[in-house]
Amino acid sequence: MSHQSALIAEDIEAYLKAHETKSLLRFLTCGSVDDGKSTLIGRLLYDSKMIFEDQLAALEADSKKVGTQGGDIDFALLVDGLAAEREQGITIDVAYRFFSTDKRKFIVADTPGHEQYTRNMVTGASTADAAIILIDARKGVLTQTRRHSYLVSLLGIRHVVLAVNKMDLVGWSQETFDTIVAEYHDFAAQIGIKDFTAIPMSALKGDNITEPSDKAPWYTGPALMRWLENAPVEDDLQGKPFRMPVQWVNRPNLDFRGFSGLIASGVIRPGDKVKALPSGRESTVERIVTFNRDLDEAVAGQSVTLTLKDEIDISRGDVLALAGRPPEVADQFEATIVWFDDESLLPGRPYLLKVGARTVQAQVHEPKYKVNVNTLEKLAAKKLELNEIGVCNLSLAAPIAFDAYADNKDLGGFILIDRITNRTVGAGMLHFALRRSQNIHWQAMDVDKQTRSFAKGQVARVVWFTGLSGSGKSTIANLLEKRLHAEGRHTYALDGDNVRHGLNKDLGFTDADRVENIRRVAEVSKLMVDAGLIVLVSFISPFRAERQMARELMGEGEFVEVFVDTPLAEAEARDVKGLYKKARAGDLKNFTGIDSPYEAPENPEIRIDTTALTAEQAAEQIFEWLERGFDPGI
Ligand code: ADX
Repeated sequence: MSHQSALIAEDIEAYLKAHETKSLLRFLTCGSVDDGKSTLIGRLLYDSKMIFEDQLAALEADSKKVGTQGGDIDFALLVDGLAAEREQGITIDVAYRFFSTDKRKFIVADTPGHEQYTRNMVTGASTADAAIILIDARKGVLTQTRRHSYLVSLLGIRHVVLAVNKMDLVGWSQETFDTIVAEYHDFAAQIGIKDFTAIPMSALKGDNITEPSDKAPWYTGPALMRWLENAPVEDDLQGKPFRMPVQWVNRPNLDFRGFSGLIASGVIRPGDKVKALPSGRESTVERIVTFNRDLDEAVAGQSVTLTLKDEIDISRGDVLALAGRPPEVADQFEATIVWFDDESLLPGRPYLLKVGARTVQAQVHEPKYKVNVNTLEKLAAKKLELNEIGVCNLSLAAPIAFDAYADNKDLGGFILIDRITNRTVGAGMLHFALRRSQNIHWQAMDVDKQTRSFAKGQVARVVWFTGLSGSGKSTIANLLEKRLHAEGRHTYALDGDNVRHGLNKDLGFTDADRVENIRRVAEVSKLMVDAGLIVLVSFISPFRAERQMARELMGEGEFVEVFVDTPLAEAEARDVKGLYKKARAGDLKNFTGIDSPYEAPENPEIRIDTTALTAEQAAEQIFEWLERGFDPGI
């Protein structure tokens, strides 16, 4: 690699030493499709001479062949090789490129992809110290500029360059530049970007990139490289209280038990008192172990293994913190959520939330509002769609140790994962814990579920019928209830149509409403099972995620899923309520099976083929299954 430093030839040892002690700046570039992002990154790599000689030769040849710059070097070709990889189906969400100058090392996160830019930006920005927001001088501030800037601000990046590119195409007009900067200034102030540096440049021609350009004598600020070399790196992490999410418990033999992780903030030394969270147990650090030796001190950014004086119970995902200044522990929060999945965020649906080294089940409540990033208006919302940003309350299945994102990105930043597809569907920042969760405690009762079902002489459980509208769920449930009743069983039937007359009167048939419909009925069934009853639930319950949620609410063996398997054509042919006809005519929207999905169960306890069995036979078979505890060959 032909780094420009003369030291390489003269004294390689001195060069390597200097390189080792140089500070590292991580930054992100954001731009719309043709703003010249690739050209800018290519230019930075080229000017810092971080290109292999053979790459350079290939670049010169390619530029002549396929370049867009009339034989001049097309820097974008250096970077856009990625595009080809993407076409081959290799997924690269964020490409990190490295370069350095005599003063500093740099890692630039290049975030390709247009539809998924929010996902890529959030990934790229999560570790960035600075952001370059690119603007095409001919186009000015665009919606994309606003979106990117809003995200940059949300993600807590405080050092921003407004790179007004392609100034050569507007004749280096100071007026154009000033207008753009003034417009951006107003927007930046509203979103909390207090300070930014605007630089007029031409990435293509190399003006104001490495060296100040004489094309714009009216500009007296730094060239981009100078700015990058001098931007402050976030080093106050060490000044914050010690936090280390435990990645794994290192126990190679009975004599050694260490807790390994990356220090998120602060400093730690042997003898320091630490607290494990969420348990709250305290101990003292004995040793700081690393690969080749013990340390007297470790700081934010280092990966270490700590051993403690006392045997306290700590597992993966817990947080070790300075005992005197621990993070809070809570299970309900307010947070900003950035959604980046094609399928909307549905309040009430359980997702997995990952914060630090901890993964826990989470439900998001209805958004308080979503933000129009253009106007910054706060809009009412029932859900969040692809690339939308909103503020919501969250509840988790278990308490976690956390800091507000503004105080600690590692302990306050999270991602949301879809439990069925395993996709990362969103990211967010915790604001604060909701006090209400701390003031409500579980009240233990002496008469419990076992006592109640024992008194009734039965095993309490829920028989959950799922299937298309008109599949026969209610008919079979009704017959089954009669049969159980005749046997002296204590039952209750919850039927979709009936519950929608009362408790769920406020809900319609959008995905979000169906999720809430099932969430409520699952909670009600849980109470009824707790009361010792056999509960027959017949709801379409079209989504796997919510049926799984209902299953997980109940105890082992308490959830019996009955798939009433009637093909769409058959249910439509019967059309008892005339609803399929209406739906086909377009008079009824979001009808299951027509323009709203039905996700059939993969492993139901019982599957009823209604084309082969009468309702009576079906009820009898389920009865047998429940009473005899085995599957009589259904
Ligand atoms: S669910 O999808 O949220 O589980 P639920 O079982 O409560 O649905 O209600 C379904 C009943 O509502 C159907 O049996 C039908 O009578 C009626 N209904 C009215 N509109 C629709 C619709 N768009 N989709 C499905 N069912 C509907």
